[in-house]
Amino acid sequence: MGMRVMDKLALHGGTPVRTKPWVSKYMGSEELGAAEKERVLAVLEKKRIFRYLPKGLETSECAALEEEYKSFLGIDYALAVNSGTSALICALVACGVGPGDEVILPAYTWVATAAVITLVGAIPVLCEIDESLTMDPKDLAKRITPRTKAVIVVHMRGISAAMGEIMSIAKAHGLKVIEDAAQANGGTYRGQMLGSIGDVGCFSLQQSKVITTGEGGMLVTNSEELWQRAVLYHDGAGYQYRFIERKIPAFPGQNYRLTELQAALSLGQLEKMPRILQQAKGNKQAIVSELRKQPKIELAPVFGTEEDLGLSLIFYVPDGAQAQHVAKALTAEGIEAFQVYDGVAKDQHIYANWEFLKTKRDPWGGSYPWSLRPEMEYDYSENICPFTLDLLQRAVQVHLNHLVTKEDIADLLQAMDKIALHLL
Ligand SMILES: Cc1ncc(COP(=O)(O)O)c(C=O)c1O
Repeated sequence: MGMRVMDKLALHGGTPVRTKPWVSKYMGSEELGAAEKERVLAVLEKKRIFRYLPKGLETSECAALEEEYKSFLGIDYALAVNSGTSALICALVACGVGPGDEVILPAYTWVATAAVITLVGAIPVLCEIDESLTMDPKDLAKRITPRTKAVIVVHMRGISAAMGEIMSIAKAHGLKVIEDAAQANGGTYRGQMLGSIGDVGCFSLQQSKVITTGEGGMLVTNSEELWQRAVLYHDGAGYQYRFIERKIPAFPGQNYRLTELQAALSLGQLEKMPRILQQAKGNKQAIVSELRKQPKIELAPVFGTEEDLGLSLIFYVPDGAQAQHVAKALTAEGIEAFQVYDGVAKDQHIYANWEFLKTKRDPWGGSYPWSLRPEMEYDYSENICPFTLDLLQRAVQVHLNHLVTKEDIADLLQAMDKIALHLL
C-alpha cells in the first residue's frame, strides 16, 4: 500500500488522487473523424438524402447500413429507423402486441422501454433485476399471467441479460421476446450476438450509445413476417419499395424513417465498433480484476467479462448511506461517481422515477391503457420491485469508455483503495 493510499481522504481535506477531470462519457461521438466526414459529404454531393427516392434505391446508405447489421449479427432481416424508441415501437407492433396485452420489462432500463409499451396500448409489468443489472429470470417467471404477450429484455449498461434462461421461460409460455440492446450494440451472449437471440432485436444510435448518428435505431429479426410488419409500421407508404411480395395484410403506419445522412454517419462508425468495444472491454476487465481482490465491495460475476461492454463501472456496498458517502469520496478524489438511486435525482432509468406509471396517466389526462382492464390493479409503487431499488441504492457508478488510459485506471484503483481503507 503506497503512502498516498494512507493519506486522508480528499473528502476530509487530504490530497486528491487526481485533479484532471474524469473521462468523457460518450464513445461513438468521440470517434467521429475523417471517415464519417467523407461519407456524409459524399451523400450531400449525391443530393440524395431521403431513403426511399425511387432513383438510387439500390445505393441507399440506409440499405447499406441494414446490410452491414445483417452480416454483423448473422441475421436475415434489418430495418433502419430514426431512434431506439421507434425500433421498440415497431418491434411491439411487429409482434402483435396491442391493447390490453401485458408486457414484462425490467424495473431498471431507460424510461422509453416502459413508455413504448403503453403507446401501443399494452400494460407494462415490472420485473426485478438481479446483481447483473439485467432482468432476473426467476422473477420473470413469477410475473407471467394469462394476459402476458411479450417480454422486453434489456441488456442494460452493455451487460448481456441471461438470455438462455429468459428464452426458455418465454418459450414455455408462448411469449415473444424483444431484446432492447439500445445500450449494448456489439455485445454477445455465449458467443451469440445480442439482438439476434430473441424474436426481434432493437438498437439505438443516439449520442450516448456505443456508436451514434445523433439519433437513430435499428431493428433486426429472423422472421420475414415480423420484419414486414415492422417495415409497414415504420413507414405508412414506403413499404412498397421494400418487398417483392407483401405477405401480410395492410395496416396504417407511422414515419420512423432514418435519413441517408444519418445512415452514412453510422456506417463509418460500425467499421470501428469492434476496436472501440475491444478497448472498452479491456479497460473494464483490468479494473474489475483488481477490484475483485477487494473484499469490501461486491461485483456481479458477469462484470468485467466478455458479456460486459465496459461502458461503466458499477459496484455495490452494504447500504445506501455508504453508497452515497463512497460516491462523494470518489468524486473528491477526482473520479466522478454517483449513487445510482439516491431518491432525489429523477434518473429516468429507475422505475421509481417513472411518474406516468405511478399515476397511470396517458397524454390526454385519462388512464389508457389501464382503463382497458378496470378489473386489474396494476401496482407501480416502490414496493413492486424492492430488490431492484435496494440494489440500486447500494450501487455506485463511474462512467467509463474506450478512451480510458492506463493512468486513469491506476488513479481509479488508487482512489478505490483509499476509500476501502477509510470508509468500508
Ligand atoms: C435501454 C434503452 N432503451 C431504449 C432507448 C431509447 O433509444 P433512443 O434514445 O434512441 O430512442 C435507450 C436510450 O436512450 C435505452 O438506453
